[in-house]
Amino acid sequence: MPSDSIAPTEEQSAPLTGRSRLVRLGGVGVVILCVVGGFLYLGGWLSPNALTPGRFVDEFERMGGIHSGFRRNHAKGVCVRGFFDSNGQGARLSKAVVFRPGRVPVIGRFSLGGGDPHVTDDLSTVRGLGLQFSLPDGEEWRTAMVDLPVFPFKDPRAFYDNLLASQPNPNTGKPDPEKMAAFAASHPETVQALAIIKSHAPSSGFDNAAYYSLNAFRFVRADGASTYVRWTLVPVQPYGAGTGASQDKNFLFDELIASIHQHPLQWRLLMTVAQPGDPTDNATILWPEGREQVDVGMLTLDSVESEETSPARDINFDPLVLPAGMAPSNDPLLSARSAIYSQSFTRRAGETKEPSEITPSEVRK
Ligand code: HEM
Repeated sequence: MPSDSIAPTEEQSAPLTGRSRLVRLGGVGVVILCVVGGFLYLGGWLSPNALTPGRFVDEFERMGGIHSGFRRNHAKGVCVRGFFDSNGQGARLSKAVVFRPGRVPVIGRFSLGGGDPHVTDDLSTVRGLGLQFSLPDGEEWRTAMVDLPVFPFKDPRAFYDNLLASQPNPNTGKPDPEKMAAFAASHPETVQALAIIKSHAPSSGFDNAAYYSLNAFRFVRADGASTYVRWTLVPVQPYGAGTGASQDKNFLFDELIASIHQHPLQWRLLMTVAQPGDPTDNATILWPEGREQVDVGMLTLDSVESEETSPARDINFDPLVLPAGMAPSNDPLLSARSAIYSQSFTRRAGETKEPSEITPSEVRK
């Protein structure tokens, strides 16, 4: 028999003795322990202070309540459709198919920050826009932007700690000023970012707001060269500062619906190109004035629909769904967002869908 025979050795073919059985069973037990331990570790059970996606979403639920079928943040929303006309200029920065000249369909969702899907509209609440571009080769580009020029938190831990610090005191109904002061003292970058945010008066509506990617992304060209960018949707609709005079609970959404029924809404998509040394891992910091901005095309949104009937209700606008030619930067918010959105999506996907605040009859002409 050749030496590489696969015939069992004497030891392998011998019947299992009580001792060798125990040894083997012990081995199986170790494997099971490793697997179970791995799940416990990933779930954060072995490290009660670890910040897991589940714990983050639990905190959103504690703040905003659990509303069956709704997003755990940006819960109040309405869905839109339209298209993006690329002018071809983006191909200088990225080989992504979306930047070849031409039109691609877009589906999206306007939203208000916070976990209450029935919250009263307020000019000071963060406004969001999630978009999904469907590219001709079957790829998708998803992005979720807000109307703030910078993000108040540099990493997920700072965001989470701020949620904890701002928990209302049961006696006063307001956050504990001492906890808020302690948070501010240990997060000077948040204090700075809030000063920038306060210096930008919110626009009067969803339609004349600018929306920012905030996080940096790495764009890769066809020749392999890469560059960091942040993007902004700049409204064609003229800016008007909001007065907040309306008493209507849904005034921001109602005005958006009326506006889109009158004429298509448009935004220019501008790519701001980083210079070496510009921070790509900290969305609380603005890049210096005068950075090159490349106008890559026009977004047009021409129809509006309640999330009760739109497929956008069931889209997870995960910022890491990127086509070839776009890659994440080293910003720690990006991977955290992806994991936390997935957790929120999984919870809401398994729940009964309750009616949206913006009903199908509200969006009809
Ligand atoms: C650590 C930081 C962040 C956390 C923990 C967080 C958390 C969440 C969660 C849980 C959702 C609901 C996801 C779903 O169920 O589909 C959400 C939605 C959203 N987030 Fe964030 N977010 C973060 C940062 C940001 C940033 C930096 C932006 C903007 C640049 C942003 C914009 C949005 C928007 C627009 C939506 C709504 C998208 C939609 O309509 O589905 N978020 N966020």
